Amino acid sequence: MENRTYHIVTFGCQMNVHESEKLAGIMRELGYEVARTEEEADVILFNTCCIRENAEDRARGNIGALKKLKQKNKDLIIAVGGCMTQQPGAAEKLKKMFPFIDIIFGTHNLENFKELFLRRIAAKRSVVSVDEKEGEIREGTPKFRTSYPNAWVNIMYGCNNFCTYCIVPYVRGRERSRKAEDIVAECRRLIRDGYKEITLLGQNVNSYGNDGNEGVTFAQLLRQIASIEGKFRIRFMTSHPKDLSRDVAYAVRDSEKICKAVHLPIQSGSDRILRLMNRRYTREDYLEKLAFLREIVPGCAVTSDIMVGFPSETEKDFLETCELVRKAKFLNAFTFVYSPRKGTKAAEMDEQIPEETAKDRIMRLIEIQNEVSREISESYLGKVREVLCEGYDREKSMCYGRDDSGKMIYFKADESLIGEFTDVEVEKIAGISLLGKSAKRGK
Ligand code: 5AD
Ligand code: SF4
Repeated sequence: MENRTYHIVTFGCQMNVHESEKLAGIMRELGYEVARTEEEADVILFNTCCIRENAEDRARGNIGALKKLKQKNKDLIIAVGGCMTQQPGAAEKLKKMFPFIDIIFGTHNLENFKELFLRRIAAKRSVVSVDEKEGEIREGTPKFRTSYPNAWVNIMYGCNNFCTYCIVPYVRGRERSRKAEDIVAECRRLIRDGYKEITLLGQNVNSYGNDGNEGVTFAQLLRQIASIEGKFRIRFMTSHPKDLSRDVAYAVRDSEKICKAVHLPIQSGSDRILRLMNRRYTREDYLEKLAFLREIVPGCAVTSDIMVGFPSETEKDFLETCELVRKAKFLNAFTFVYSPRKGTKAAEMDEQIPEETAKDRIMRLIEIQNEVSREISESYLGKVREVLCEGYDREKSMCYGRDDSGKMIYFKADESLIGEFTDVEVEKIAGISLLGKSAKRGK
């Protein structure tokens, strides 16, 4: 008999990418294998995102395009889950728009996907299950990891911050930390299985344990994971600037295994906008955090998220952001045009910014960050960096991987190097990446 197969389409952040690995784990436990193409699949799963409107638009477009496939193959099962379906009223709207969807599940129901799937199979009718409230953390969901030598590990779920533009606290619920022992055990298994880089995931990793979990802080958790034997790297994201502590910086400094790289979203350089965003820090606070981080961890790479076009943002506010970006020297920054999200405070604010103004600002901002990134890239030229080989690019016939700072470096080498640490001498800048050649580091 032919194997039954699944195909997963993922939108959004690393958190979603990892959650798709859980959905894949569940499908495999049910005896399904990865489909070669979407057309061939018996089950198609969408893991959606709603952080900005264009993510939702893309998901809707993709789902709509499946109508034809469903008409051709009546047995095809289509499941849609994730952040988009978790918004109030969204599941009903989706079902109305696309009556051919078989299963709709929310972020809080992901770990129950196996039950929902079996229910759909047994009852042969669609299943909609979107719990309003987050449940207890459920350990032991199988994972089918697809990003060797990197592995994602959730350390906490949800967010308590309610930045006024952000939908995440509404669709992912309150902060819940996993037990340190469960996290450490998972990391230990990953290292034993040969993974070389672990990225700890949380909306705000610096508030790990604040929800009253055995008193283990994020800094202590980092130290516990770093004490696992073996050669591997630890990364973590995301850090909310208001919660980044010196203790975390000391932990980063003290272990060779912890990458000297912190993702620290600034969002805006204007105090007035930061206040309206409910970020709970000022630009001075942010610069102070940067200063102590770089003092404690010399050469620490910092990346950031920056938004333009928040309601009422003036040219003056924007110029303050530009000035801060020049000053902060981010290795790299993700830039976004503010997108109003229904149900958030900012969506109700007067003075939404015209699209053209926001677009013009983001172009100017990207240009500034590109200059900064280029300047930083130049400082890599001629240096030998230890790279974890992550993959092989067939078009370029080159291996690629990141150094400790997170900079992507391409270099000529054999595919068999994937999963190995290797020294690369940086020779050229290529966009935001670097080009180099294998190097033997002198003793
Ligand atoms: N519009 C635009 N960008 C947003 N982000 C979060 N919410 C919105 C929104 N409504 C950005 C923030 C965050 C990143 C993950 O996405 O910069 O740090
Ligand atoms: Fe959204 Fe703010 Fe929470 Fe980040 S910290 S997920 S931006 S509410």
